[in-house]
Amino acid sequence: MASQIKGLVLAGGKGTRLRPLTYTTAKQLVPVANQPILHYPLDSLVQAGIKDIGVIISPETGDAVKSVVENWRPSGVKITFILQDKPAGLAHAVKIARGYLQDSDFAMYLGDNLIQSELSSLVETFAQEGADAHILLKHVNNPQAFGVAELSADHRIIRLVEKPKHPKSNLALVGVYLFTPKVFDAIDQIQPSPRGELEITDAIQKMIDNGNTVKSHTLTGWWLDTGKKDDLLEANRIVLDAYCQTELSGKVDNHSQIRGRVEIGKGTKVINSVIQGPVRIGPDCVIEDAYIGPYTSIGQGSRITQAEIENSVFLNACQVSHIPVRIEQSLVGQECQITKAQGRPATYRFMLGDQSNIEVL
Ligand code: G1P
Repeated sequence: MASQIKGLVLAGGKGTRLRPLTYTTAKQLVPVANQPILHYPLDSLVQAGIKDIGVIISPETGDAVKSVVENWRPSGVKITFILQDKPAGLAHAVKIARGYLQDSDFAMYLGDNLIQSELSSLVETFAQEGADAHILLKHVNNPQAFGVAELSADHRIIRLVEKPKHPKSNLALVGVYLFTPKVFDAIDQIQPSPRGELEITDAIQKMIDNGNTVKSHTLTGWWLDTGKKDDLLEANRIVLDAYCQTELSGKVDNHSQIRGRVEIGKGTKVINSVIQGPVRIGPDCVIEDAYIGPYTSIGQGSRITQAEIENSVFLNACQVSHIPVRIEQSLVGQECQITKAQGRPATYRFMLGDQSNIEVL
């Protein structure tokens, strides 16, 4: 019998679709509802009873990922970091983790994915059904952006194709997979895809070709792949909706109004402002003469004065002041400053990192 199931979390890669934020941080460390995305896959593995977890890291962001994981690690959870020296694909990551995984079954979770379903019930089903792999699928509007599954009328997997130009269905492969060690034989038999990567989708297709049993389950709850700005804002919205509570650790003055579920961190001051939840504001912030609207997360040490913000994610130590137009649907990196230009005629003045994206009146 295989030893206890292990976890494998993929936190390497370059995060090109989240630039410019990912010039200075790993895509898995960008916060959703004020917590690094990576916490969510790690927490769900632990909740499913998996206490031995391998984390794939890259040379560029490995140290940052390590320190976030070490700070997160609950007692009794063993973490093994595995360095992937180049972004050679998800199947390549599994291949290099072989020494760590040995003969264990494992749950693989992409570090920028979140699912609503409890991983524990999927792990139980996998243990009971005795399949060689179990994949998760979800109906999406843009299957071209994902691995896509074609199913038969009786729900058997016919074919899996990575990012097809002409998808045969709208069933995308979710970034959460359950494998037995049979996946290693399949990985040894595949070649890099046109994007130059060893694709996990091709490896699973190879398992099917080899006569292994691959089962699937189609998710009905939410699935979030936070690889791009709008997906990340959507993830922030859904996570705040699901988990935001009412917890006012900072100081709120008499001239302010707090409506709905709002979490305010220690040392934060709210002065003459309206906060309409669900909203999470980190510690040591100042919110003054401002409106913070639903589905907004504001990182530690930020200062918002005479501004209105809604549906947005601000990372730590941002400053926003005297902005006459409401800021919406925005993802703002650490230590950004958004201020009103002085003088006439009114002008815009920018200092933006590579691949920044702004929309103005
Ligand atoms: C990867 C997988 C793809 C899957 C997706 C889920 O894509 O290759 O099959 O649908 O994750 O997030 P990537 O993010 O590498 O483009």
